[in-house]
Amino acid sequence: MKTSLENAASTASVRISSFDPVAQAVRDGLRVTPKWLPAWLFYDAVGSGLFEQITALPEYYPTRTERAIFAAHAQAIITAALQVFERKHGIGGTLRLLELGSGTASKTGILLAAAIDRQGLTEYLPIDVSDVALDEAQQSLTQLLGKVRVLPQVANYVTDALRIPPHSGPTLALYIGSSIGNFAPDEAVAVLRNLRAQLRPGDSLLLGTDLVKDEALLVAAYDDAQGVTAAFNLNVLERLNRDLRANFDLSRFRHRARWNADESRIEMHLESTTAQPVHVPGAGMVAHFRQGETIHTENSYKFTGQSLRELLAAAGFDVVQTWLDEREWFAVTLAAVVS
Ligand code: AVJ
Repeated sequence: MKTSLENAASTASVRISSFDPVAQAVRDGLRVTPKWLPAWLFYDAVGSGLFEQITALPEYYPTRTERAIFAAHAQAIITAALQVFERKHGIGGTLRLLELGSGTASKTGILLAAAIDRQGLTEYLPIDVSDVALDEAQQSLTQLLGKVRVLPQVANYVTDALRIPPHSGPTLALYIGSSIGNFAPDEAVAVLRNLRAQLRPGDSLLLGTDLVKDEALLVAAYDDAQGVTAAFNLNVLERLNRDLRANFDLSRFRHRARWNADESRIEMHLESTTAQPVHVPGAGMVAHFRQGETIHTENSYKFTGQSLRELLAAAGFDVVQTWLDEREWFAVTLAAVVS
């Protein structure tokens, strides 16, 4: 007995690869109500470039705010991480930095420079799905700092078990840029537990998280005046047109950003402005849209001191210290492995 998918494939004589994660994401998300697509679909080459542009927008405060916190407190952060280890083991050691989803590691240089100032040669272990981004990170950091030893690892830290080489001193794991905000609370706990399982007593986590604030400020950060975030969101449809030979008409979809107070998250959606069918041959399906129907493309959770402590406790970490900007828009939290 053939499934309807296989039928569609043979009658239309198109090739459907069941191992293509993009096609699978479309089959999972566009055959159900409400429609949704995973946020990782944003980051093809065009989307990664648009995200870089977003981080420089006047409305998008998180990147520059976190960078300012690092610039003001890098020494204190490194000192605190060394102290966590010393208090646990009664003896110091050489700190190494590990980073989940490092990308091109543009903010990490500040923390690495502080560690090198303090102890000289420092190891840096970036983990990312993109080998291109890892190469870029390695090049720019070694050029900038010299006394760094970069040991990159291509891996998906959500789905893969982490393989962290042994080390006699403290490991400070960086999970910054509010990347954790893309995950629902239970998934966020799972991601941090996966990390926790690879760390040892005396190690610590540095978590960067965006905070709950005035709704207008939050919405503006995800619906900027220049329309860069709209282009970033709509690029998902362009990607499906290219990768799966879909026929999304981008002029019939619009970007929406809304604050969901009950869930404490910004949601991004793509709204169909007309009733329309969309063919997605590469996923072997047709998606039907009602006028005003949306595809939910991203969640960006915003935290409070309370929700942060709860998340970290559930994942097996104790909050050691939190650094904020003056406006209290963003938090950088050092948390120690609970032993
Ligand atoms: C990369 C997940 C932190 O949620 O702010 C920016 C992604 N989406 N503008 C965020 C994003 C729209 C970003 N993170």
